[in-house]
Amino acid sequence: MSYPRISTLKTAADFSRRLTELGLTLPFDEVVETGAQAPLAQAIPYGRGIIGNRFAILPMEGWDGTTDGKPTDLTRRRWANFGKSGAKLIWGGEAVAVRHDGRANPNQLVLNAANESEIGELRQILLDQHRTQFGKVDDLLIGLQLTHSGRFARPNDKKKLEPRIAYRHPLLDAKFGIKDDGPLLSDDDIARLIDAFIEAAKRAARLGFQFVDIKHCHGYLGHEFLSAVDRPGKYGGSIENRTLFLRDITAGIRTAVPQLDIGVRVSVFDYFPFQPGPEGTGVPAGNGVYRHAFGGDGTGLGIDLNEPFQFLKLLEENGIELVCTTAGSPYYNPHIQRPALFPPSDGYQPPEDPLVGCARQMNITAQLKARHPKLIFVGTGYSYLQEWLPHVGQRLVRDGAVDSVGLGRMVLSYPELPADTLAGRTLERKKICRTFSDCTTAPRNGIVSGCYPLDPFYKERPERIELNAIKKGQE
Ligand SMILES: Cc1cc2nc3c(=O)[nH]c(=O)nc-3n(C[C@H](O)[C@H](O)[C@H](O)COP(=O)(O)O)c2cc1C
Repeated sequence: MSYPRISTLKTAADFSRRLTELGLTLPFDEVVETGAQAPLAQAIPYGRGIIGNRFAILPMEGWDGTTDGKPTDLTRRRWANFGKSGAKLIWGGEAVAVRHDGRANPNQLVLNAANESEIGELRQILLDQHRTQFGKVDDLLIGLQLTHSGRFARPNDKKKLEPRIAYRHPLLDAKFGIKDDGPLLSDDDIARLIDAFIEAAKRAARLGFQFVDIKHCHGYLGHEFLSAVDRPGKYGGSIENRTLFLRDITAGIRTAVPQLDIGVRVSVFDYFPFQPGPEGTGVPAGNGVYRHAFGGDGTGLGIDLNEPFQFLKLLEENGIELVCTTAGSPYYNPHIQRPALFPPSDGYQPPEDPLVGCARQMNITAQLKARHPKLIFVGTGYSYLQEWLPHVGQRLVRDGAVDSVGLGRMVLSYPELPADTLAGRTLERKKICRTFSDCTTAPRNGIVSGCYPLDPFYKERPERIELNAIKKGQE
């Protein structure tokens, strides 16, 4: 199945027609406004201050830290780019493990005593870059994403999963080689991990981060708790129990560092894991009743927002104002998580026009925002919209369907997109992310991430040759 490329949808009528063909509701504005009154230029009142505009940078890891969890020049370059993007909300920077065993790869950052100052330096680099470019930083909100990778931990060897899981999963255990209860975390293990999150949050506060994101997405441990319906004991079963991990971390942070705000990035719906079917197109890896998709309707392919609504209510009750919505997992159903025309090397051909995946995330976020208007929602899944990203983003913000437009892959190829949009400059087409997925394929094959097709810096790196050879071999 092939889908029309976004770059061929040149006029609003073309884009509209394609949305109609797909039966999608995805509102957009034909003209992107500029100037002080432009929807994307509006500030968001937040806590003690403001967030200066409606663009956010989503957390984007580079698999490029040192093996002891410190940043490298590549990490520092990426954070500088976040600063020069013009976005006024930096949602987390990148996933930072609270402990060695929670690293998703041996090059993930770890926030511990030895690494603290160098991780703090990343924030400073971002801040300096932003100040140089835009003159002020008092309307810039910077958070740090804290994580434990759970089922997808690879702390010591890029190729070796060393999972720590909340429960035995009927499909993912087989897919990722879990054969016994060895990786199961006990309640005591979890209590110690909660302490590690609180310790890391204290460090983040000391470094000047204004909030920490307690990551609950993409199949990592926090997200896995949300579907631990079969786990016995206090962390499984009811939604109250499945959110105890988050509530205990929140309570600990509030006591230890009351000045630090808390955000949560959450996969608000999930599907079956997918796998390549005939001709490589993604098909569900299961059938029948599926109880392990948080935000799922039990079919593995549908959405029921009842529990996500309860989750958001809980955030409000716990004084958490910042939420970043995302979906599924890049490891088992990437098409719902990061819609792309070209799959990563461990993926499958898209089973739907990627526009469907974009619209799904945006419409779900709009429904959540409508029910919880006081929460500040950062949306995800915009990069595939390409030339139409500012048009859709502006309209969703104008309609109050989202508060901030989060940018993931686009910030790797075109960091200045927010600044260019806000200034009314024509977008630079050669920088627009076309979702080649090299930024995912590279780390899946042990190579640092970056935009190899479009960023001249990565284009010239030797890893590009290695990556191309791997892709050729896999074809
Ligand atoms: C190379 C790469 C690194 C990522 N790193 C993180 C991360 O550290 N934490 C996280 O929550 N999401 C991470 N994501 C997911 C993105 O934040 C985002 O959800 C995804 O790319 C979809 O948004 P987009 O359509 O704008 O790309 C990563 C995605 C990619 C492609």
